[in-house]
Amino acid sequence: MIHTLSHKSLAPKRAPGPGFTFPGQRILAFRRDPTGMLAGLARTYGDIVEFSIAGRPAFLLNHPDFVQQVLVTDHANFSKGRGLQQMRVVLGQGLLTSEGEEHQKARRLVQPAFHHERIAGYADLMAQEASRVADEWQGGALFDVAQAMNHLTLRIVGQTLFGTDLSGQVERIATALDDLMVVTDPVHLMLAPLMAWLPTPTARRFRDSRDFFNRLIDGLIDRRRKSGPGQGDLLDMLLAAVDEESGISVDDQFVRDQALTLLLAGHETTANALAWVWHLLAAHPEAEARLHAEVDQLLPSGGLPGMADLGRLPFTRAVLSESLRLYPPAWVIGRSAIADCVIGGYAVPAGSMILLSQWVTHRDSRYFAWADEFRPERWLAEKRNDRPKFAFFPFGGGPRVCIGAQFAWMEGILLLATLARRWQFRPADNRAVLMDPRITLRPKDGLWMKAHPRERSDAASTVW
Ligand code: HEM
Repeated sequence: MIHTLSHKSLAPKRAPGPGFTFPGQRILAFRRDPTGMLAGLARTYGDIVEFSIAGRPAFLLNHPDFVQQVLVTDHANFSKGRGLQQMRVVLGQGLLTSEGEEHQKARRLVQPAFHHERIAGYADLMAQEASRVADEWQGGALFDVAQAMNHLTLRIVGQTLFGTDLSGQVERIATALDDLMVVTDPVHLMLAPLMAWLPTPTARRFRDSRDFFNRLIDGLIDRRRKSGPGQGDLLDMLLAAVDEESGISVDDQFVRDQALTLLLAGHETTANALAWVWHLLAAHPEAEARLHAEVDQLLPSGGLPGMADLGRLPFTRAVLSESLRLYPPAWVIGRSAIADCVIGGYAVPAGSMILLSQWVTHRDSRYFAWADEFRPERWLAEKRNDRPKFAFFPFGGGPRVCIGAQFAWMEGILLLATLARRWQFRPADNRAVLMDPRITLRPKDGLWMKAHPRERSDAASTVW
């Protein structure tokens, strides 16, 4: 059942939650172990938890109906949370950070680049890029698989959306991204507007990285203007875009904001999803063998998978789904309540911070049997049981749902099939892999694994 806004007759109650803590204490606890803190609150207090963070009321919502209310039914009453609001100093009126009419305008103009037919055209390129990377790996080599996935997805976004090869810039882009993300850290949140002039090393790095991205995007725009339209990619669309209302071409700042947003939002999340897949497969040889059997059967002579093969890779898709469930790259969504409202019969005052956590909800045993276990087969059609839609929301939902969701599914499945056809990974040592939950959920200090080539098609087992 969905609970709607402001029913005064319901006499909303105060939601359960922990009481007073000393100023700063909760922010520090959150910073130390964000996923642990949210999971602990859900375990102790249930579907809705009220607490305060930095002196502001905050609500953690752990029920799919409440998630749906915030993202879909009553979405107009919730703006983006503070972290993303602060990212406006970097992403301006980009799709991720804009609100209201600006957001609608951006979504309208960017959407065609993600239409089904358009993204179908990216499939071959995705598999080719993966195959190129697979050619470069050396048997027995130890490397950071998370970083390798990051470089690969960045190259794919560069090629598909901007028609450009970013492989020479991948290291700089990754560090620049980290430098900019500092404004989403709870401790730096208040400092975002001051980043333009603060004389600290963090602020200086922030400015250098912001300038680097501006130069990168401006370079892409200039080159495209000089060369004329390319293959009808995102950049072509943005440069040709005309605002429906004014009939005037959109300005360069608008193009820059959208381009930077898509460059950043379009690679790191998918890279993390894939990194977690390799980690999980290494720990679950049975699932890995089943995945190998599927890709070997589809690609017996080692060819590349394409768009038409997506439906023939149900187990590969299930592996990706299960990884997105257990290690959701977007592990928390933040919102801010615009007006007083009622959620689940509880009063939520205007200005409250709202947290919806995929990390918490995806591991709720009411919706997923053996919730902490990696069981890809749960996603196969014959095993899928009825669960509320928003028990699983790796891409969010409603009007702000991830615009790249179909792109990411296709990319994830094609990359996984292409790479698993030729390689498998094993941990470098027996140290536990820790999480680093920032704006996305990454493996902490990378994911160091050894690459082992697999035997050709007809071999049932693998080579060590
Ligand atoms: C596994 C990969 C991905 C995950 C888990 C993911 C997750 C998400 C989530 C949860 C949101 C909603 C955020 C919110 O409601 O506050 C979102 C929004 C967005 N994502 Fe993704 N994403 C992924 C891949 C991509 C890709 C490949 C692109 C582009 C190429 C992309 C571009 C965007 C953009 C532009 C938005 C903002 C949409 C809007 O507000 O209208 N994402 N993503």
